[in-house]
Amino acid sequence: MATQQYIWMDRKMVPEQKATIHILSHPVQYASGIFEGTRAFKAKKGTAIFRLQDHTHRFLNTARIARMNIPYSEGELNNATIAVVAKNRLGDCYIRPFGYYPVKGVGLTNPVKDPRVSVAIAAFPFAKYLEKKGGLTCKVSSYRKVSSSMLSPRAKLSANYMGSLFASFEAKEAGCDEAILLSESGHVAEGPAENIFIVNDGVLITPPGAANILMGITRDSIIKIAKDLGLLVEERNIHREELYTCDEAFFTGTAIEIEPIISVDERKLGGGKPGPVTQMLNETYMQVVRGEKEEYEDWLTYV
Ligand SMILES: Cc1ncc(COP(=O)(O)O)c(C=O)c1O
Repeated sequence: MATQQYIWMDRKMVPEQKATIHILSHPVQYASGIFEGTRAFKAKKGTAIFRLQDHTHRFLNTARIARMNIPYSEGELNNATIAVVAKNRLGDCYIRPFGYYPVKGVGLTNPVKDPRVSVAIAAFPFAKYLEKKGGLTCKVSSYRKVSSSMLSPRAKLSANYMGSLFASFEAKEAGCDEAILLSESGHVAEGPAENIFIVNDGVLITPPGAANILMGITRDSIIKIAKDLGLLVEERNIHREELYTCDEAFFTGTAIEIEPIISVDERKLGGGKPGPVTQMLNETYMQVVRGEKEEYEDWLTYV
């Protein structure tokens, strides 16, 4: 028999079958939830959550942007995350904090009248997202990344991800593995749920915050690791054409980790296979998350 899994829900460990919300509740009907995505790894000295404090901090910033008043402190959410991984006896796993209005009924403005917010934190095994031997084929999407004039690109709002889903469907229908979204200004932004890097003449280039990207924690880790490895890193606007002519490209994200891109709009990148800089960064990143690099121990919270 499968072991019972628990979800932390408003200070209680609830068996997952009972951790439910109503079909007519606000987050289900109007995508008004907010979330975070974190990973824990079986590291050298035990199970370790990667950059837990940064993820919790971003969750609370998302809540502020969404005007949601989370009734828990940052410290309590960090402890709850550790507790849910421990309770489920997990090693490598994905962690999904979710904030939502529990108010019942379909009225759109219900949360205006009753703005109470609930938080649930689930943890479960989750393989590397979109992993493909030899790397991903990509398509520049006809959908643009949301801008601050519509929603909030800096926040992990559930509502943002409908645009991501449209782009993913479109890429799949075109026979590609993943989409790349441009910003309103036509510069490269990111994947549906990943940041993007290109490599040109040994220089690592990634779009800046102003390109309406989510400020990824993996992106930040890769920038630091790359600089420590002596690579030049530029955060600047990337033109669509640069995607076609770069030597290498890859996605970063908690779910996808580091995943090479081998073609964009049917233009092969480099040799049409994962490049050396991508491979070096991937190997180093995996050593970091598994606690094999002492100098990055601060990024690990042991369970
Ligand atoms: C839109 C978007 N961009 C980028 C990322 C990568 O962010 P992180 O590395 O913090 O997981 C994510 C995933 O959270 C995302 O949803």
